[in-house]
Amino acid sequence: MAILIPILLSSLFISLPLPSFSRTYTSLTKGSSLSTRDVLISTRDAVFTAGFFRVGENSYCFSIWFTQPNDGNQTIVWMANRDQPVNGQHTKFSLQNSGNLELTDAGQISVWTSGTKSSSPIKLELRDSGNLVLTTSDNQDLWQSFDSPTNTLLPDQILTRNSILVSSRSRTNHSSSFYKLYFGSDNVLHIRYEGPDITNVFWPDPTLVIWDAGRLTYNSSKVAVLDSLGHFVSSDELRFNSSDYGVSLQRRMVMDEDGNLRVYSLDKASRTWQVTWQQSSEPCNIPGICGANSICSSEPDGVRKCTCVPGYKMKNVTDWSYGCKPDFKLSCNDTTNSSGFIQLLNVQYPGYDLGSFTNYTFKGCKNLCLSYCDCKGFQYKFDFVKGYYSCNPKFILFGGYRSNDFQGPMYIRVPTVNLKTVKSSQDLNLQCRNQTVPLNRPYEKKTQDWIKSYLWCTLAVGAFEISCLLAYLFKTRKRSGSRTQGYLQVATGFRKFSYSELKKATRNFSEEIGRGGGGVVYKGMLSDNRVAAIKYLKEAIQGEAEFLAEISTIGRLNHMNLIEIWGYCAEGKHRLLVYEYMEHGSLAENLYSDKLDWKKRYEIALGTARGLAYLHEECLEWVLHCDVKPQNILLNSEYQPKVADFGLSKLLNRSGIDNLNFSKIRGTRGYMAPEWAFNLPITSKVDVYSYGIVVLELITGRRPTGGNSNDDSNDVEPRRLVSWVKGKMQEADERGSPMPIVKIVDPSMNGDFDMERMEILVNVALQCAEEDVDARPTMRQAVDILLHQENS
Ligand SMILES: *[C@@H]1O[C@H](CO)[C@@H](O)[C@H](O)[C@H]1NC(C)=O
Ligand SMILES: *[C@@H]1O[C@H](CO)[C@@H](O)[C@H](O)[C@H]1NC(C)=O
Ligand SMILES: *[C@@H]1O[C@H](CO)[C@@H](O)[C@H](O)[C@H]1NC(C)=O
Ligand SMILES: *[C@@H]1O[C@H](CO)[C@@H](O)[C@H](O)[C@H]1NC(C)=O
Ligand SMILES: *[C@@H]1O[C@H](CO)[C@@H](O)[C@H](O)[C@H]1NC(C)=O
Ligand SMILES: *[C@@H]1O[C@H](CO)[C@@H](O)[C@H](O)[C@H]1NC(C)=O
Ligand SMILES: *[C@@H]1O[C@H](CO)[C@@H](O)[C@H](O)[C@H]1NC(C)=O
Ligand SMILES: *[C@@H]1O[C@H](CO)[C@@H](O)[C@H](O)[C@H]1NC(C)=O
Ligand SMILES: *[C@@H]1O[C@H](CO)[C@@H](O)[C@H](O)[C@H]1NC(C)=O
Ligand SMILES: *[C@@H]1O[C@H](CO)[C@@H](O)[C@H](O)[C@H]1NC(C)=O
Ligand SMILES: *[C@@H]1O[C@H](CO)[C@@H](O)[C@H](O)[C@H]1NC(C)=O
Ligand SMILES: *[C@@H]1O[C@H](CO)[C@@H](O)[C@H](O)[C@H]1NC(C)=O
Repeated sequence: MAILIPILLSSLFISLPLPSFSRTYTSLTKGSSLSTRDVLISTRDAVFTAGFFRVGENSYCFSIWFTQPNDGNQTIVWMANRDQPVNGQHTKFSLQNSGNLELTDAGQISVWTSGTKSSSPIKLELRDSGNLVLTTSDNQDLWQSFDSPTNTLLPDQILTRNSILVSSRSRTNHSSSFYKLYFGSDNVLHIRYEGPDITNVFWPDPTLVIWDAGRLTYNSSKVAVLDSLGHFVSSDELRFNSSDYGVSLQRRMVMDEDGNLRVYSLDKASRTWQVTWQQSSEPCNIPGICGANSICSSEPDGVRKCTCVPGYKMKNVTDWSYGCKPDFKLSCNDTTNSSGFIQLLNVQYPGYDLGSFTNYTFKGCKNLCLSYCDCKGFQYKFDFVKGYYSCNPKFILFGGYRSNDFQGPMYIRVPTVNLKTVKSSQDLNLQCRNQTVPLNRPYEKKTQDWIKSYLWCTLAVGAFEISCLLAYLFKTRKRSGSRTQGYLQVATGFRKFSYSELKKATRNFSEEIGRGGGGVVYKGMLSDNRVAAIKYLKEAIQGEAEFLAEISTIGRLNHMNLIEIWGYCAEGKHRLLVYEYMEHGSLAENLYSDKLDWKKRYEIALGTARGLAYLHEECLEWVLHCDVKPQNILLNSEYQPKVADFGLSKLLNRSGIDNLNFSKIRGTRGYMAPEWAFNLPITSKVDVYSYGIVVLELITGRRPTGGNSNDDSNDVEPRRLVSWVKGKMQEADERGSPMPIVKIVDPSMNGDFDMERMEILVNVALQCAEEDVDARPTMRQAVDILLHQENS
């Protein structure tokens, strides 16, 4: 009855030339038409409405949408002319006497037609399923909108071999875009990206054999349907349930503009659409969204971020789907070192390999890429299953994304002349954007400058760390929802101590156990009988709030191979840190004491690598230690190593640092990476280098540093230690000695060690201590290599 009234009303106005009134129909018969103001509503409950949807200023598309919510943000489920909007002047959607359904613009231009013909009476109606159907009087369907979907599949609408879902350009621009859901010739339901330059089928995962992806190819019926309960089934055996399986008000399956296939259900209470299934939960897993030559990264809040590959710039600054293009010219004629490589960590480019090459050295892989004219870069990683390095030169950089799970670095080819400038702009692309202190060190190869550089580093890295730790903090907050610092304090026992409490614990700071890293360390017994190492910071930040902010971030880093921090004290001018006490002191104290057998040494190397890998990874490589040395690796009662003194640089008062006693730094000189001296960008690879030197020291029992040892013959600079080891290995090799390792292993082990493990350890250490930053593995890779060895 309620429906009839508008119809009666509207029929009253049919004869009147009053365009400001809209008419509502439940069906159209031959000879009738809809103007831009008229609508057709679905038969029983008016769930759906068909009519002209305004897509822009003076432009309309004939569409079907959910009648509710009627707030101006209608949910469109079908469009007749999505790619060719009409202007609304003398526009008609008419059922002609011939039986053809036609959309005409400006009186005569035909924009869309159903191509149907019928001499008998027919009518057009919108069913409650959302299907617009042209039926004959004997109930034959001549045409239906369900046969030509746009981006949406409604419940019980069958996706067939002839239908494709095509994504829209954006939420507001409904025209056809790049992502398509369709049945392939292999009878499998696929999603394909068909961009301006590149086409890429990415679902199901092309690296999987089709049945590993849970699909079958033998059923050629090629049909798929989402039923009214939320169960989806396809003839290729793809099946799933929406998370709200059961009777629901409304659902729709949409090929979304971001390339994700989703099922939405209308939430009864809030009357909003909720995602109840999606094909990919990792937004960057979908290629094309950032175009070619770009890197997609997902921020903690699920927002996707696109950046160009270093050296490239956006093709169309308003639209990422065009991707990026090189901001340089590469000469193909690469006989003269005209191109070099930039390392991208944690980035992977799937596919587009010029081939997969195994057993290549890093250098070999690099040269391989250089030998191909169209090699844009290469991925070099260790394949743990097969046990060798794989080298994959790429001829297209497409679908690249960043994730902490990726190990093998990607190397991007750029002209050598651009290498320096590009490297600095690359830093801007990284997550930790606020590394405000430029590493602006003049290059002068004097000892003093080394030290100055080092100091600058400490400052700069402090800035890195702050921003990184804040980012990390932000990430953890996001991840853990409303978990507050209070929760963390409960969980880790991190707390504030009063000065008098610590004074008592250390019996008036009477038992000094160490010095360096900005303060003196005392042993103490806390009121709960825990033994602690209490560090009195000499030149710490004075502001209590600032100090606290820094401390609480350090307090959050939690790993079995990082020293645990129990609390702090900030009272008056006193700044103290309370750490767990390590029975066996530092590695430096133990290394020359005969207490470390090969097993312990191996475990120390592995544990230290793990601790550093954790530091580097939690914030996408940028929590640098910057001072890895035996003095900062502490050993517990079981000789398990824990890295200490991380994150300290930012606690120290910066103006104070300038006054630091240089002799304190000398001890670490032996472990400093060459980047410090050569004014090169500082990355986590500086820690990798220092780690390599520490491991070499651990193996050989030879100090890389000068001045500390009584036995001068043992003193070597880092490079000298490395070349000494290499030389000994080579020497033994040339003489055909079966066990070159014997020549370099610390004689205090009396030849008692596992040859194979030591060899691995030496190799890892030498790789870590490579001069070439890019040739060094990441800490994670080092861990993986050592672990792999341990398990095999
Ligand atoms: C419609 O959508 C826009 C953009 O998403 C939003 O700003 C606006 O508030 C919505 N309007 C209503 C009535 O919900
Ligand atoms: C929608 O996107 C298409 C394709 O990029 C473009 O041609 C068209 O101008 C856009 N329409 C609007 C209203 O922005
Ligand atoms: C092929 O798939 C359809 C739809 O899922 C199903 O009805 C039919 O039984 C299947 N055919 C075979 C041979 O399994
Ligand atoms: C979907 O849910 C129904 C009812 O709970 C269940 O029988 C069916 O196995 C589920 N299907 C899938 C693919 O999970
Ligand atoms: C950039 O993209 C926008 C939107 O797709 C388009 O309108 C514009 O013409 C493009 N510009 C260029 C230079 O291609
Ligand atoms: C490549 O370089 C060689 C030597 O520099 C030169 O003779 C040759 O013409 C170059 N070829 C091209 C195609 O530029
Ligand atoms: C290319 O660089 C390598 C190492 O940097 C150097 O040994 C070689 O001589 C260079 N080749 C040319 C042609 O400049
Ligand atoms: C890789 O090299 C190692 C030793 O050089 C050899 O044992 C191994 O068989 C090689 N693997 C392949 C796949 O060539
Ligand atoms: C970066 O640091 C500078 C100075 O410390 C500050 O002014 C700026 O707002 C920071 N930018 C961001 C994005 O945090
Ligand atoms: C600590 O020193 C203060 C004065 O410096 C002294 O009064 C107190 O007795 C000392 N306490 C202990 C336990 O030595
Ligand atoms: C750092 O120390 C200097 C004196 O050494 C002092 O004047 C300055 O206020 C301190 N800065 C902070 C932030 O504590
Ligand atoms: C540097 O430290 C050493 C020993 O720690 C000390 O003897 C020397 O006086 C200090 N120099 C300065 C300038 O503080």
